[in-house]
Amino acid sequence: MDADEFKRWGYEIVDWIADYFNNIEKYDVKPNIEPGYVINQLPQTPPENSEKFENIIDDFKKIIVPGMTHWQHPKFFGYFPANTSFPSIAAEFLTSALAAQCMMWQTSPAAAELEELTMDWLRQMIGLPNDFTGVIQDTASTATLCSILTAREKYSSFDINAKGFSGDEQFRVYCSSEAHSSIEKAVKIAGIGKENLVKIPVDENFAMLPDELEKVLEVDTINGYKPLCVVSALGTTGSTAIDPLKEIGVICKENNIWLHVDAAFAGSALILPEYRHLLDGIEYADTFVFNPHKWLFTNFDCSAYFVRDKEALVRTFQMIPEYLKSAEAHVNNYKDWGIQLGRRFRALKLWFVIRSFGVSGLQEKLRLHIKLAQDLVKNIESENDFEILAPVPFNTICFRYKPAGVVHEEEINKINEKLLSKLNETGKLFLTHTKLNEKYVIRFMIGQTNVNEKHVSETWEMIKSESRNLLNKN
Ligand SMILES: Cc1ncc(COP(=O)(O)O)c(C=O)c1O
Repeated sequence: MDADEFKRWGYEIVDWIADYFNNIEKYDVKPNIEPGYVINQLPQTPPENSEKFENIIDDFKKIIVPGMTHWQHPKFFGYFPANTSFPSIAAEFLTSALAAQCMMWQTSPAAAELEELTMDWLRQMIGLPNDFTGVIQDTASTATLCSILTAREKYSSFDINAKGFSGDEQFRVYCSSEAHSSIEKAVKIAGIGKENLVKIPVDENFAMLPDELEKVLEVDTINGYKPLCVVSALGTTGSTAIDPLKEIGVICKENNIWLHVDAAFAGSALILPEYRHLLDGIEYADTFVFNPHKWLFTNFDCSAYFVRDKEALVRTFQMIPEYLKSAEAHVNNYKDWGIQLGRRFRALKLWFVIRSFGVSGLQEKLRLHIKLAQDLVKNIESENDFEILAPVPFNTICFRYKPAGVVHEEEINKINEKLLSKLNETGKLFLTHTKLNEKYVIRFMIGQTNVNEKHVSETWEMIKSESRNLLNKN
């Protein structure tokens, strides 16, 4: 493909993207297809000769798009969002055209400096103290792994990096029983061992109980363990519960324990002054992560990782082989700020998004999502046969259908499981589930870029009628 042909197809692709967004509600949110649907339509061996681009685009439209789950559909209410926006898409076009390897300042000075700038903009936007420095990671999972590895190295005086484990470390990591699985994964990868991840019980709001943490720490210390790190959740995955940061922070300080805050989803809400109080206790934290790729209209991947001790981070990860030596001082070589060497130019989309929306535009969107959720809470509460099973501090509602006369938990679980699958089979909406206290709950997350009141109310009406139909048919 030459530049002229690229121009032609480029315009067509931009048209397709704009039309996709204009018509997105015509698609089923999740395709109703069986495994093998896509692969069985494609040749199992690579093409020997060049194919016409129009055939490739044709197959994209006919085979790939029908096999997609449409995360940008305004009735995508599942998991947490991975939302995008036109400024973010535009930046990704440009990023892929520049196709730069942004591992060091000299491999792309603008990328390194824009990352430094946009991460500081984000820091200011969410109200983190100015002794935090940010770096973009691919995901919160990677950021949490970086945090635990840095804690491990700092507490072992960088000996584990140098010599490996001596066998006497006996490290332990703590998080609540509701914390995300990425913490367990990080503990496994960091060589600490998943049996040394201690899950602290939660209160009736699914937030960590600091008294329980204190008790466990006491026993562990007596038994010769070295409490290494506590991960405090600001918005758990199940129900967006908020661990009490200040109380946990005080305990960490008293016991000289590293504190990581996992705000992967809910951290975006901190751009709203009315949520800033959730940072009370941040003075005790060593590291903090949140994902603009979830709820800040910046497409996947873009995870904002902030650290207090930049030197410890860099000392944990830095490698300077001869072929990567460079002379500049006082620049950020981000290859040394995490696991991977090669890095994409992710700051560009963040810069486009923040400038294009403005902080007030981003705040407006988030406030709308939160209001839609809070209005829906009232509607759910007004129905006798539905119940909400966790507080709703942001925009994720955990609810279930509990028809009169059905008292056995197992039966209620089954009804809700069936209800969810019936709803999703329609293709008109997409919701996911979790379990809270062994109760099967449907999660209604309202964070899609273009969601509005109509999408939420139509979905709620469908939920009500499907539930009651379900019971009539039984
Ligand atoms: C609280 C929490 N932490 C971590 C993660 C992992 O995020 P990522 O996919 O960026 O690794 C999630 C994902 O939903 C999450 O909800």
